[in-house]
Amino acid sequence: MEEVKDALGSWGFFQIVNHGIPVDVLEDMKKGVLGFFEQDSEVRKQWYTRDRSANRVVYNSNFDLYSAPVTNWRDSFVCRMYPNPPQPEELPPPCRDILLEYSSQVMKLGCSILELMSEALGLEPNHLWDMGCATQLQVTSHYYPPCPQPELTMGITEHTDAGFITILQQDQIGGLKVLYKDQWTHVHPIQGALVVNAGDLLQLITNDKFVSAQHKVVANKVGPRISVASFFLTDLMTQNPKVLEPIKELLSEDNPAKYRSTTGKEFLDYFYKKGLDATPALTYFKI
Ligand code: OGA
Ligand code: NI
Repeated sequence: MEEVKDALGSWGFFQIVNHGIPVDVLEDMKKGVLGFFEQDSEVRKQWYTRDRSANRVVYNSNFDLYSAPVTNWRDSFVCRMYPNPPQPEELPPPCRDILLEYSSQVMKLGCSILELMSEALGLEPNHLWDMGCATQLQVTSHYYPPCPQPELTMGITEHTDAGFITILQQDQIGGLKVLYKDQWTHVHPIQGALVVNAGDLLQLITNDKFVSAQHKVVANKVGPRISVASFFLTDLMTQNPKVLEPIKELLSEDNPAKYRSTTGKEFLDYFYKKGLDATPALTYFKI
């Protein structure tokens, strides 16, 4: 608990081993993702769309193609797995079964991590869960092809994640970097480990106790590099969205709220419209 508190209060990132997800589930997930991206483009294009609002399964390159200042050397495949998972037949055969299995294991792990985080904040273990921090799980698989001139582009532009927490599986190629004290530090791949990081919504509700750190992925000559980012979000579909604001128990006269109230929908609409860049979406919600 102390380690989680220190890591999220400073770096905003940590890596975990012995997390309970079997190595073969991790490996099969990477294989499934590779299997999807290596299908013929004629087959892959069944899942291609830029309309994320209408689809639980979205395959495209650069969701922010028309809003971000630069384009990244990366394709992505997004599946919203909770609260309403896609029907198995909506999922591509190469990763159908494993996506369902992986998501259910990541969901369990995320809930344990949220418990630890709640306690690290001095709250009841189920506090973050009750606030809806694990209502929606979006599993985004990335495919970074080998890049002939990596110095001219990026795998993923520097950004912060929007949600509460992200659980990331990266392969052994490397390239993920996190900004800490104005320096970019490489997040070294560790076999079987998962990377956990705080997102903007967690920073907002913890009133900056936990930080949503900037990170990026450099392009590589070798590849493809595969990663799977599982984002824990609030539910965007409900009629009565939960109000998100700094947790009352964490505030005091000396530590007033730094952010205004919002909803997951308002926040994410703003985040996606803005696209990935170095200006944190949180700035817009500051008091
Ligand atoms: C992301 C992300 C890192 C990676 O999807 O938000 O930061 O290693 N991914 O792919
Ligand atoms: Ni990210």
